[in-house]
Parts: sequence; structure tokens; C-alpha cells
Amino acid sequence: MSRVLIVYFSRTGATRRVAAALATTLHADVEEIIDRSDRSGTLGILRCVLDSVMRRSASVEPMRHDLSAYQMVVIGSPVWAGRVSAPVRAWLATHRRRLPRVALFCTLAGRSSESALKELCELAAKQPVARCAISQRNAPQGEESRALNLFAQRIERTLAHIEEIEWAA
Ligand SMILES: Cc1cc2nc3c(=O)[nH]c(=O)nc-3n(C[C@H](O)[C@H](O)[C@H](O)COP(=O)(O)O)c2cc1C
Repeated sequence: MSRVLIVYFSRTGATRRVAAALATTLHADVEEIIDRSDRSGTLGILRCVLDSVMRRSASVEPMRHDLSAYQMVVIGSPVWAGRVSAPVRAWLATHRRRLPRVALFCTLAGRSSESALKELCELAAKQPVARCAISQRNAPQGEESRALNLFAQRIERTLAHIEEIEWAA
């Protein structure tokens, strides 16, 4: 059984592609956050922006995996108006108290990810073992970006360290 769970929300597929690439590298299980709102079309995008600007939560489906079974949870969100997407905000509000170690990533169209990554850390209420931002252009079908490789390597090193401690105990 995998020791890593990747939890993500994706509206248009970029974050899903990054989550899938990470899942392959880390042999991780994957939990997609399912949003109950209609976010399609212009009105849908407007709803995303308003939710983000007003830091509103969203209504999401219950999760399928058991968080207590994992040593690491990797959480991914698209950046909306410089912030965390509403479905990921909702998921974290419900589950953050039960999180083990976390690693955080976001996908975005531009370059400025700092505010969204900072908000992700605050919402998770944990210092992440790794964090990274992947530009939508690099959210690859196949080819992984350098940042993503480094991110995965940090997670693997942390897992190896946990295993060493467990063997020593
Ligand atoms: C409502 C909305 C707001 C966005 N705001 C930003 C932003 O502030 N900065 C940015 O770089 N990209 C922004 N984007 C682009 C997304 O972050 C980017 O396309 C992301 O990779 C989409 O992920 P997804 O395909 O998994 O939904 C925004 C997209 C949407 C729909």
C-alpha cells in the first residue's frame, strides 16, 4: 500500500496532469476533490474569482481515502486570483486537523505563486516538507519540469528519513 496520498482539485486539467505525474514518480494514491459547483463558462470563472477574492469555501464531495493510512499528503491547487482555489480551501478546512506531513504545489498561468503557496501553508496549518509552483505551460504530458523533479525528490528523501527512524526505533 502507498504511503503517499495526492489530493488535488483541477478545473481544466493542468493540476490533474501534475498530480498524475507525481503519482507515477511517488507510487502514490490519488484523491481528486470533487466540487459541487458549476464552474464552467464565463459565469463559472466569475464564481471562481469571487470565491477566491472573498476567501469563500466551496461544497465538495466527501473523500474516498482514509487519511490516517498515509505518512505524507501532497496537496495541489490551481491559483485563482492569486489565491488557493475554493474547493481546496474547503477540503483543508474539513481535513487539516488529521493531516500527517504535507507537501504543497500549485499550478498557474503566470509567475507569481507566492501568495497562493503562502495561503496553502496557512490553510494546512503545517510547515510543508516541500512546495513548488508549476506553470501551466510546464504542466506536461510526459515531460516533467525540473521543479517537479526536485519537489518529488524532497518528498522521497523525507519518506526515506521516516523509514530510517522507524527501523531504528
Ligand atoms: C478564475 C481563475 C483565476 C486565475 N487566477 C490566476 C492568477 O491569479 N495567477 C495565475 O498565474 N494564474 C491564474 N489562473 C490560471 C490558473 O491558475 C491555471 O490555468 C491553472 O494551471 C489551472 O489549473 P487547472 O487546469 O487544474 O484548473 C486563473 C484561472 C482561473 C480560472
